[in-house]
Amino acid sequence: MAKITFSFTLTLLTTLFLTSLATETFLNSANGTPFKLGTEKLSHFQFYWHDTQSGSNPTSITIVKPPPPVSPTTGFGTVNMIDNPLTDKPENGSKLLGRAQGFYGLASQEEMGLLMAMNFVFVTGRYNGSTLTVLGRNPVSQKVREMPVIGGTGLFRFARGYVQATTYTSNAQTRDAVVKYNVYVLHY
Ligand SMILES: *[C@@H]1O[C@H](CO)[C@@H](O)[C@H](O)[C@H]1NC(C)=O
Ligand SMILES: *[C@@H]1O[C@H](CO)[C@@H](O)[C@H](O)[C@H]1NC(C)=O
Repeated sequence: MAKITFSFTLTLLTTLFLTSLATETFLNSANGTPFKLGTEKLSHFQFYWHDTQSGSNPTSITIVKPPPPVSPTTGFGTVNMIDNPLTDKPENGSKLLGRAQGFYGLASQEEMGLLMAMNFVFVTGRYNGSTLTVLGRNPVSQKVREMPVIGGTGLFRFARGYVQATTYTSNAQTRDAVVKYNVYVLHY
């Protein structure tokens, strides 16, 4: 019995010791020198987002088809996964700046209104490898649609801002579209 009590006490003491050590380590790191942030910058750039649903190599595919009847005016319930090229000019095949990877869902029962969740992954110059994340509402019948930029990585750490999307071309038959994005982000 005494042996059990002793071994229990020893375990308890060890646990207490280790816990206090862990707490102290955490407190030390929490009290450490704060990170120095550079100056915050406002960047503005623009590119064209190519949503290609037709052809043998679509970059936007419907992954959820809602149960019928599907409203032809709202498409409510449809979800597309995208890996869309971002280019510097509207022409197909112009310089690739990055890709928009994510999905959009038709989330409105009154109009063609998208919920968009996508990461812009840049592949050129000093932005190569940096990303921006957009999460927002895109009512496509409006001329200019604004969506929040909610974060970023790499050169866009701590990013916040917004994008303005304007349709450049869209084809009702193929459902292919080219959309101009104006991006405004604050970052360090
Ligand atoms: C762009 O090019 C791709 C691949 O060549 C093709 O599938 C697509 O239809 C083209 N889009 C337009 C709008 O020309
Ligand atoms: C971008 O980064 C990738 C991975 O580090 C590298 O393979 C690629 O060559 C880079 N591209 C440019 C244009 O710098």
